[in-house]
Amino acid sequence: MEWVRIANLNQHEAQEVELRGWVYHHRSSGKIQFIVLRDGSGICQCVLSRSEVDPEVFAAARELTQESSVVVRGRVRAEARAPGGYEISVQDLRVVQVAAADYPITPKEHGVEYLMDHRHLWMRTPRQAAILRIRNEIVMGIHQFLQDQDFVLTESPILMGTAAEGGANLFETQYVNDEPAFLSQSGQLYVEATAAALGRVYTFGPTFRAEKSKTRRHLIEFWMVEPEAAFMTHDENLRLQENLVAHVVQRVLRKRAADLVTIGRDTARLEQVTPPFDRITYDEAIDLLRRVHQPEDEWQPLAWGEDFGAPHEAAITAEFDKPVFVERYPVGVKAFYMQPDPARPEVVLNADLLAPEGYGEIIGGSERIHDPELLRRRFEEHRLDPDTYGWYLDLRRFGTTPHAGFGLGVERVVAWICGLDHVRETIPFARLLNRLHP
Ligand code: 4AD
Ligand code: MG
Repeated sequence: MEWVRIANLNQHEAQEVELRGWVYHHRSSGKIQFIVLRDGSGICQCVLSRSEVDPEVFAAARELTQESSVVVRGRVRAEARAPGGYEISVQDLRVVQVAAADYPITPKEHGVEYLMDHRHLWMRTPRQAAILRIRNEIVMGIHQFLQDQDFVLTESPILMGTAAEGGANLFETQYVNDEPAFLSQSGQLYVEATAAALGRVYTFGPTFRAEKSKTRRHLIEFWMVEPEAAFMTHDENLRLQENLVAHVVQRVLRKRAADLVTIGRDTARLEQVTPPFDRITYDEAIDLLRRVHQPEDEWQPLAWGEDFGAPHEAAITAEFDKPVFVERYPVGVKAFYMQPDPARPEVVLNADLLAPEGYGEIIGGSERIHDPELLRRRFEEHRLDPDTYGWYLDLRRFGTTPHAGFGLGVERVVAWICGLDHVRETIPFARLLNRLHP
């Protein structure tokens, strides 16, 4: 008998199959038992009738507790009312283990901290499993899109001798020879090197920021994809980003429709996510904030030169149906490596992509300074040691080209696509300000 995954039951209608999984719910009414089984791909109701299985099997099934592991054999029946649309008429059931009776997560409401303390078990619930499958779809969609556009995966190191983004949120540790070492905040500086070797590249890996902030969108350890391309202009950079994001959203809508239903995501807004996205300048965003501001708002309009906070980004995105680019920020609020706009050197050729429905920044990107003299001046202004960054300067000395790239935060994209109110559910084991366990 073939071992089948629940998600594929539609290919096995009326056949006899084997399912292997865990008991999610179990109820019994004398002559009949209903076991809702989960196997990681979905859930399926398995029906045992006393008249159709061995008496020992029927008796053993009665002892099953939540999360008991079992192997079930039976016939697949289409059942429109069943979750997933199929049911199993059980012929045989083998108990692998009757789970301890004190499984800590029950269908009743638990507090978030309790659930996070039990994350290793919480992720078994259908909603959490659906989110993790959607995350996987997003990650695979990113890889596929970039690979189809000839981007080569070149991994950046996690242990670095220099800081990429600088600032207070740098994780410091000690290298094997006692040199100070830092956990990567971004792989960007390294993909700038691999881009000059391979043309179009990306790195995809964990990044670390010792953020003291406790917000719904900050993780201490998060996953970022960072494409970088030699000769790519600012405008081409934005087009790449909107095509990537639209591709990923449409792929999730197509391939994870059932999971989106499980988590109760309203997909109407996601269906609109097709290129092109709107673009506004930083200056226009400042004006927009002034225009939409209401006395009861918890945020204040900003003066030119100030950076947006989460409430400002939410107010901006409220004016748009799809993600929106905010481009050309003041030099002073962005990183040292960003290329100034030749037409207006007080702003840089950058953009943040803000996701709708209040989610805010999901991508930060820019053209990079390619002129060695300008980069040297920036090192001085930012008090960066030109010796440590010598290799980065080399990239400008030997065949420099205009180039650009961006960083997309996976968890923020998962939160937005799933409509979650916090990034803690977007990653198997979240690392947050006050959470390093489990
Ligand atoms: O805007 P950021 O800081 O940009 C960079 O690191 C650039 N070096 C990227 C590049 O151009 N190659 O971070 C990029 C994205 C943000 O837009 C956000 O989605 C995500 O990374 N991000 C975080 N996600 C979760 N928790 C945090 N603490 C994050 N910080 C940034
Ligand atoms: Mg940013």
